[in-house]
Amino acid sequence: MKLKHTFLITAGPTREYLDPVRFFSNPSSGRMGYSLARVALDRNAEVVLVTGPVDLRPPRKAKLIRVESAGEMYAAVMREYPRADVVIMAAAVADYRPKRRLTGKMKKREGDLTVKMSRTRDILAALGKRDGRHFIVGFAAETGNILKEARRKLTEKNVDMVVGNDVSRPDAGFGSDFNRGVIVERDGSAHRFPLMRKEELARLIIRRCMEKIEKE
Ligand code: CTP
Repeated sequence: MKLKHTFLITAGPTREYLDPVRFFSNPSSGRMGYSLARVALDRNAEVVLVTGPVDLRPPRKAKLIRVESAGEMYAAVMREYPRADVVIMAAAVADYRPKRRLTGKMKKREGDLTVKMSRTRDILAALGKRDGRHFIVGFAAETGNILKEARRKLTEKNVDMVVGNDVSRPDAGFGSDFNRGVIVERDGSAHRFPLMRKEELARLIIRRCMEKIEKE
C-alpha cells in the first residue's frame, strides 16, 4: 500500500471569455473543492488543486494551479492526472463557451445580440473513459430527481462516485456554505446526506475515497 496518496481536486467556476473584458461564468464559490483539498491534506495526502478564479485563501501545502477557462482546466487536469490516485471534479465547469473570442472589446450596436456558443470538452467524462487505475469522483447539481440524475451521470461518464447536490432551494449548493443530496457509487449504493456544511461533507467524501483506494 502506498504511504501517501495523491488527490487531484478541481474547484471554483470557469470563465469563458467573449472579448477581453466580458465572460460567461457561474456563482461557484470554490468552497466545496477547497474544503476537500484541506481535508485530504489533513489526512496526509498530497494535493494538486486546479482552481478557477475564487476569493478563497488556498491551502498552504497544496500544489496550486490557477486556470480560467474550461479548456485551461482540461489541459491542467490531463497533465496532472497520471500521478494522481484520486480525481475529484468539484469545479463548476462551463458546458458552453463563445464560439469566437474577440481580440478587441466588442462594441454595442442597435438591437439584440446573439452569441454563438460551442460545447466545451467534458473533463470528467474524458477521465472516466481512460483506465481503471484512478478513483474518479464527479459532482452533479440538480433541481429534479437527484438520485436518478446522479446515477445517470455515474453511468454515462463511467466514474466511481457522483455527489448529487440539491440546488433546488436557496439554502444549499452554489455560493452557500451548505449542501444536501445523495452520494452514489459504482457498486449501486446510494447514501443520502442531510443539509450539512461543505467541510463536513468534504470529510465524508475524502473518508470514502480513502477507504476505496486503500482496499485496492
Ligand atoms: N464537468 C467537467 N467538464 C465539463 C463540465 C462538467 O468535468 N465540461 C464535471 C463537473 O466538474 C462535475 C460534473 O462534470 O463534476 C457535472 O456534470 P454535468 O453533466 O456538467 O452536470 P451538470 O452541470 O449538473 O449538467 P447537466 O445536468 O446540464 O447535464
